[in-house]
Amino acid sequence: MATESSPSARGRGVSGGADGSWSDRFEEGLHPAIERFNASIGFDIALLPQDLDGSVAHARMLGRCGVITTAEAERLIEGLELVRAEAAAGGFNPGLEAEDVHFAVERRLIALIGPLGKKLHTGRSRNDQVGTDLRLWLRQKIDGLDRALLRFQHALLAQAEQHVDTLIPGYTHLQRAQPLSLAHHLLAYVEMAARDRQRLGDVRRRVNICPLGAAALAGTPVPIDRRQTAAELGFEAIYANSLDAVSDRDFAVEFSAAASLILAHLSRLAEEVILWASEEFGFVALTDRCATGSSLMPQKKNPDVPELVRGKAGRVFGHLQALLTMIKGLPLAYNKDFQEDKEALFDVVRTTEDCLEAMAILLEEGIRFRPERLEQAVAADFSNATDVADYLVARDVPFREAYQLVGGLVKRCLAEGLLLRELPLERWQALHPAFEADVYAAIEPRQVVRARRSEGGTGFDRVREQLALMRQRLDPIPAENP
Ligand code: ARG
Repeated sequence: MATESSPSARGRGVSGGADGSWSDRFEEGLHPAIERFNASIGFDIALLPQDLDGSVAHARMLGRCGVITTAEAERLIEGLELVRAEAAAGGFNPGLEAEDVHFAVERRLIALIGPLGKKLHTGRSRNDQVGTDLRLWLRQKIDGLDRALLRFQHALLAQAEQHVDTLIPGYTHLQRAQPLSLAHHLLAYVEMAARDRQRLGDVRRRVNICPLGAAALAGTPVPIDRRQTAAELGFEAIYANSLDAVSDRDFAVEFSAAASLILAHLSRLAEEVILWASEEFGFVALTDRCATGSSLMPQKKNPDVPELVRGKAGRVFGHLQALLTMIKGLPLAYNKDFQEDKEALFDVVRTTEDCLEAMAILLEEGIRFRPERLEQAVAADFSNATDVADYLVARDVPFREAYQLVGGLVKRCLAEGLLLRELPLERWQALHPAFEADVYAAIEPRQVVRARRSEGGTGFDRVREQLALMRQRLDPIPAENP
């Protein structure tokens, strides 16, 4: 470290390092534009609580291992807590000269407690430090996202419970296919969210491994105890290899992939709500809580919320791509490229949090399903055609033969402007003698839905079963951590 005996490092006014300057190797200060370019303090200040937690654990461990005295460790910890208190009071606002949050904390510590502060960085490097901070941060964010997903699931479930008996056209290729219980449709998204939560849980296990003590890349001759710091910080394990420890960003990629799927799911639901809210579909009405107007067209009510969710999905996918690209050409071990992981990860987390919350609110109070419109839609189409074929199948006609017959019938109905239920019984019997008067009940939409009793199907009984199961499986939404 530069001292009063190396005035050259300080003479230029601009310098780096935790102690106001780099080592004595440096004689000149950074170019101001490069100082700005190099600095991450503008965004990594978000890691301050984690940086302090990591440093407290490190200091305590140094004391316990006899690297410093316990009194020194205690003094370091007190100093770090002073920084925390200053930050809480709004009095810790490091500028660019600090470069990053790690240096900022160390500098402030030295300013507060004097030269003893210079012992904190013993046996560690910013390389293992930043990895530790980021993992601690992400671990907590994952827990918050899990809660947000749970709320989203509850919002879907509450709508589903209202609409077991409401019918909605089911589509394939966005063509009317077969009618569904609306609850069944909504429960599909509850299942997707359940997988999203599982995926986050998997990622969390790999986030929760501690790199601290890998030091710059090779470990340290200082007699540290990595397991102590890891345990104190709540990590489940430590990295086995110091090079891997400081250069692994798989967890950031994996997390962003899991978040991308969350956004993909949200975006699909968003797209459906946008369609449903159109005049053409008319399946939902947007309440004033989540809809916006047009500056020009007074009649408009726009689905901005789902549109934004659909749009923001692209941001998250983009960050995933950016992170993959960032790591693909990096030789071991730490490279400054890694500094780019933070803004990507921060934005992935913020966007995912925001979109989950917005979609939950949309479901809770932003849309009202319109059962009359849905019912009308289902009654006036040919989405019961499969059931006519199935009617014949139940009377021992081979499916493929029944399929052909019904296809021809639909064609004639379309030409004549008739629905299947409007055909007189003679026409049915002319098509096949197996038809009897009960065909009308069999093709009635509600019966069509009821009949799909296969496991996982839309039959009302099955849907009620699934709802009850989900109710059981979903925990109540816990209060947020302080
Ligand atoms: N600000 C840096 C980052 O975000 C911290 C680690 C810097 N390490 C280094 N050797 N320059 O990655």
